[in-house]
Amino acid sequence: MFNRRDFLNKTFLASLAAGVGLSACESKPKQDEANNNAPGVISPNGKKPEPIVIATWKHPDATQTALEVILNRGSALDGIEAGVRMVEADPRDQSVGYGGLPDRDGIVTLDACVMDDKGNAGSVTFLQHIMHPVSVARKVMEDTPHVMLSGEGAYRFAISKGFKKENLLTEAASTKWKEWLKEGTYKPVGGHEQHDTIGMLAIDGEGNLSGACSTSGMAFKIHGRVGDSPIIGAGLYVDNEVGAATATGLGELVMKTLGAFLIVEFMRQGKTPEAACREAALRIAEKYGKSNEEMQVGYIALSKSGEYGTYSLHPGFNYSVSRKDSHEVLDAPYLAGNSH
Ligand code: GLY
Repeated sequence: MFNRRDFLNKTFLASLAAGVGLSACESKPKQDEANNNAPGVISPNGKKPEPIVIATWKHPDATQTALEVILNRGSALDGIEAGVRMVEADPRDQSVGYGGLPDRDGIVTLDACVMDDKGNAGSVTFLQHIMHPVSVARKVMEDTPHVMLSGEGAYRFAISKGFKKENLLTEAASTKWKEWLKEGTYKPVGGHEQHDTIGMLAIDGEGNLSGACSTSGMAFKIHGRVGDSPIIGAGLYVDNEVGAATATGLGELVMKTLGAFLIVEFMRQGKTPEAACREAALRIAEKYGKSNEEMQVGYIALSKSGEYGTYSLHPGFNYSVSRKDSHEVLDAPYLAGNSH
């Protein structure tokens, strides 16, 4: 499996401040013309797009699984739930679900949310002992009048819905935590370089969009910390008339700019998914770049027409795309030190 620490630990080639400098000089991306050569345009002539699944990071097995569910007449959300569950159950992935790195007290706490084509949303935050927070979030959406359940309440709700109590702290994650404890600097951003998120977006055979994201959050975070991933509009947003977006990286930056909602609103204004992701990345760079030069955020977006796009603050962010007969992992464009 791809070691995403490589990405987040990377020595950056150029500072984010450089990225801001460039952005200040260059013209804003043009309002989108019809761009039939843009990556991910499936049906430029207004036909219903072919099903497509896109996810943060190198998860082609998960996007393929999601696509198979959709091609077998599942909804976009059915497919996404199946794909995200694969990653949540994989102990090798140390930033999502089982095997996720714990907080400073050695406790694994999970955040997740889902949003469907009807604008329904469900979310769980600070959830412990439950391997599949994405499925609990879906239950919150479908079986309660609420959007978000947190902590002990989310856990009790999960148990009431038949989820099993499980130990999510693997030996490997515990060993890393104990290593970290030897020198653990007890400041709020410590360990942020070791975390990220599975965010997944899809269009199904009916042309409907859904999305989900799931994470164990920032490694060695302060107990109780919740990131962007379960926050509707920050880590995920879906508007079936327009498109969908999701985020990975330092959640605090995504939350302070409401990244996913911002991207969908940029798409509503006519920007391509890539231009919209880029604008949202620029927003972070311009407002918070100087004090967060080494922090990474990556965005992915999918439009109603099946066009997708991505952007990140720094190099190293990649994403997976599955369509009928093709499953790819691609590098995202980025701001820092980049003049385009
Ligand atoms: N993006 C995940 C988090 O910050 O928790």
